[in-house]
Amino acid sequence: MKRITIWVIFFSVFLLLHTTTCVEDEVKSSLINFLAKLSNNKGKSGLLLGWNSSSDPCKDHWKAVTCDTRNNFVRKLFLNSSNLVGELDIGLLCNVERIAESLTVLHLESNDISGVLSPDVASCKQLTRLHLNGNRLNGTLPTSLAMLNNLKILDVSNNKLYGTLPDLSRISGLTVFLAQNNEISGEIPRFDFSNLKQFNVSNNNINGVVPDVRGYFTASSFLGNPGLCGDPLPNKCPSSLQAESVAGESKDSSKDQIFMFVGYLTLALVFVVIIIVVLCKRRRKKKVVDALPQKEEAIEDGQDERMYKSSTIESMGYKAGFSKSETSFVSADNSALVSSSLVVLTSPEVNGLKFEDLLKAPAEMLGRGKNGSVYKVILDNRKTLVVKRIKNWPISSHEFKQRMQRLDQVKHPNVLPPLAFYSSKQEKLLVYEYQQNGSLFELLHGTHMPKTFDWPSRLGVAASIVEAMAFMHQELQDDGIAHGNLKSSNIFLNRNMEPCISKYGLIPVITRSSSPKAFKDDVFGFGMILLELLTGNLVQHNGVDLQDWVHSVLREEWTAEVFDKSLMSECASEERLVSLLQVAIKCVNPSPEARPTMNQVVVMINKIKEEEERSAIGPYSL
Ligand SMILES: *[C@@H]1O[C@H](CO)[C@@H](O)[C@H](O)[C@H]1NC(C)=O
Ligand SMILES: *[C@@H]1O[C@H](CO)[C@@H](O)[C@H](O)[C@H]1NC(C)=O
Ligand SMILES: *[C@@H]1O[C@H](CO)[C@@H](O)[C@H](O)[C@H]1NC(C)=O
Ligand SMILES: *[C@@H]1O[C@H](CO)[C@@H](O)[C@H](O)[C@H]1NC(C)=O
Repeated sequence: MKRITIWVIFFSVFLLLHTTTCVEDEVKSSLINFLAKLSNNKGKSGLLLGWNSSSDPCKDHWKAVTCDTRNNFVRKLFLNSSNLVGELDIGLLCNVERIAESLTVLHLESNDISGVLSPDVASCKQLTRLHLNGNRLNGTLPTSLAMLNNLKILDVSNNKLYGTLPDLSRISGLTVFLAQNNEISGEIPRFDFSNLKQFNVSNNNINGVVPDVRGYFTASSFLGNPGLCGDPLPNKCPSSLQAESVAGESKDSSKDQIFMFVGYLTLALVFVVIIIVVLCKRRRKKKVVDALPQKEEAIEDGQDERMYKSSTIESMGYKAGFSKSETSFVSADNSALVSSSLVVLTSPEVNGLKFEDLLKAPAEMLGRGKNGSVYKVILDNRKTLVVKRIKNWPISSHEFKQRMQRLDQVKHPNVLPPLAFYSSKQEKLLVYEYQQNGSLFELLHGTHMPKTFDWPSRLGVAASIVEAMAFMHQELQDDGIAHGNLKSSNIFLNRNMEPCISKYGLIPVITRSSSPKAFKDDVFGFGMILLELLTGNLVQHNGVDLQDWVHSVLREEWTAEVFDKSLMSECASEERLVSLLQVAIKCVNPSPEARPTMNQVVVMINKIKEEEERSAIGPYSL
C-alpha cells in the first residue's frame, strides 16, 4: 500500500516537472524560431543574439528580452534596430499561450522586416505597445487588432501596408496610432479622437471626408492623401461628397436604430421570461418556508424576498428583533438607561427624530454586505438620511454608545458624523446625512464620470481626505478608534464636491495591542484610494497581485501607461503624477510598520500640491 503511494507521488512529480519543462521548451524554441525567421535564418537558432536552447530566456538574461521581476515570464522584446532582414511571423509568438499571456511590449521597429501582420496577433492580448514602424511590411492590417484591448501604442508607420485600416475604436486605452507613409487606402474608420495623444495617417491613399477630430489634431496628421478632404485640411469637400457621406451616415444610423429596437425587444422578452421563472420559483420556495418554519436558512430566504418588496425599514428589519413596543425616543442625556432606543446626537438636522419616524419612512436599499445593509430613508419633512444597519457587531451596547459619543465630539468638516444611532443586542443602526453626489467610487468607476474630475481636483480630494484622516487619527489615537474600512466607496462628495469620509470607526472592537495596526491599515486604504485616483482603475489588492503590480510599474518604467488616460490627455505633469504614485506605493507597503503615518502622508501630499500650485501660476502657465 505504502509503496503504491510513493510511486504515485513520484510519478505525479515526474509528470509535473515534465510538463513544466515542456512549456518552457516551447517558449524557448518559439522565441528562437521567431528570431530565426526575422533574421532570414542568417543567425540560425537565434545565434544572432546568442539565444540558444540550452539556456533560459529569463534566468540567463537573454539579450533583448525583459522578463517579470521573478524571471518567470517574458514581458518585453526589444528587437528594434537589429538589422533584421527576414520575415515577420507573429504567430510564432502569439500562438504560444505562455508568451501570449505575458508579452506586453514588442519592439520591431527600424529593421528591414518583410511579410504581413497576421490575424494571430490578436492572441497576444496583453500587448500594450506594438512598434512595427520602419520596415517593409506589406499586406493589410488585420481587423483582429481590434481585439487587443490593452493596446496603448500602435506604430505601423513607414512600411508598405495597403488595404483599409481596421476599426480600433473599441480599444478604449489607445493613445498613439501612427500609420503615416504607407499605401493604405479606403476611408478613415472610427477613432476616439478625444483619447488619442498622437495620430498620423499622412502620405497614404486614404480618401473620403476627414472625421470630426474636434480640434484635437491638425492637417499635419492627414497630409499627402489626395482623395481626402474637409476640415482641418485646406481642401474643401465637393458638396456631393459631403451630402453622400451625410446620407450614408443617416442610412447607417436608421439601420442602427432598427437593430437597437430589435435588441431592446429581445431584451424585454428575456426579462419577462426571467421574471416569470423567478416568480414561480419564489412561490415554490415560500411554500417550503411555510412548511419548515424552524429552518433558519429558509426563513432568511423568505425574509429577503420581503425585504425587496417592502418599502420601509421596519418591514425590512422585522426579523432583526426590534418591534415597535421597544421603541421610545430618548434624548442623548438620559439614554444611558434605555440602550435599545434611538439616540440622537447633537445634530440640528434631525432634532426631534423619532425611531418610529425612521421605521415608518419610505426606505430604499442602497447596498447590502456581509454584516449589514444600507438604506436611504426619506422623512416626512423631505429630509433624506442614510441608515446603516449592522448585524451581530461584537460590541457591547455600552461601549458602542461611548464610541458614538466620542466620534460625535471629534468633528472634522470632511468627516461625516453619525447623526443618531440605535443599539440592540442583535444589531446596531446608524443614521447619516445623505450625500446626493454619490461616492468617490461611483465618480471614478461609474458610467457618468464627469470630464471635470481633472488632476487638480483629484489632488485636492486626496489632500482633503488625508488631512481629515490625520486629524481623526490624532484625536482618536488614545481611544484606539481607527476608521477600519477606508475605501473609495466610503467617501462621499458633498454639494461642493468636497470629500466626506463616512463610516468612521465602524469596525469590531480592537484591543489596544492591535490598534496601531488598525491605524496603519487606514494608511493602506488611503494608498489604494490614491492608486484609484491615479489610474482610474480598481487595483487588485489581494497581496501578491498588488506587490507584483507595484514592482513592475517601478522597475519596468511603464509609469506613463498606468495613469488614467483622462489625466494624461489633459497634460497633467507626469512628474507630479509619479510623485503621488510614489506616495501611494509607500502607503500600500505590505509591512504595516514600514507604512508612513497619516501625518507624514499629509506632508508629502502638501508638497506635491504646493508644486502644482506654483506651476499653475508660474510663467509657463497658459
Ligand atoms: C547558451 O547561452 C548561454 C547564455 O546566453 C551561454 O552561457 C552558453 O554558452 C550558450 N550555449 C551554447 C551551446 O551556445
Ligand atoms: C529600442 O527601443 C527602446 C525603446 O524605445 C530603446 O530604449 C532602445 O535603445 C532601442 N534599441 C536600439 C538597439 O535602438
Ligand atoms: C509582400 O512582400 C512579400 C515579401 O517581400 C512579397 O513576396 C510579396 O510579393 C509582397 N506583396 C505585394 C503585393 O507587394
Ligand atoms: C505626420 O507624418 C508626416 C509624414 O511623416 C509628417 O510630415 C507630419 O509632421 C506628421 N504629423 C504629425 C502631427 O506628427
